[in-house]
Amino acid sequence: MKNIVLIGFMGSGKTTIGKKLSEKYNLEFVDMDDEIEKDINMSVSDIFRLYGEKYFRKKEVELLDKLLHKENIIISTGGGIIESKEAIDMLSKQKNVIWLNANEDTIINRVISELDKRPKLSRESNLKLTIQNLLDNRYSKYEKIANINIDVNNKNIDEVVSEILVYSDKNMLL
Ligand code: S3P
Repeated sequence: MKNIVLIGFMGSGKTTIGKKLSEKYNLEFVDMDDEIEKDINMSVSDIFRLYGEKYFRKKEVELLDKLLHKENIIISTGGGIIESKEAIDMLSKQKNVIWLNANEDTIINRVISELDKRPKLSRESNLKLTIQNLLDNRYSKYEKIANINIDVNNKNIDEVVSEILVYSDKNMLL
């Protein structure tokens, strides 16, 4: 197996599931938001506030490029990775891109307690509408670059991990 890249909206479980998978497969795990925060020594929210989203997206693309040149690594991307065309191009060439596909209700339930960590949502008064609009805009992009689409609604973490392992058993993860 080479790399696994997890994509999906905020709150879809990329970080938690990525960590679990890395333990199962004994592979390195990188959470891109954490890595950017460490690199710049600032929280993602502060990066957005002080330098703007464009700067953050540039950092994401640079980091993704670096990570995709590694092997045997599980990468948890930020939900907005598909906002950059460069990132879409890079991810389209990858084999193991797994989309953790969550619907609006699942997303709202999961992000509501952590809004301060999510600059794309925290400043919006109508949370549901903001999520709907972002999801409408992003859905087809996730769909296009994913090789495997996992419905994560009404499932706990272990159920999602088991589903991913089934793909691996069937050698669909290369
Ligand atoms: C973002 C998602 C976040 C983080 C940043 C922007 C987005 O990552 O990269 O706040 O635009 O969807 P998570 O999906 O890990 O929350």
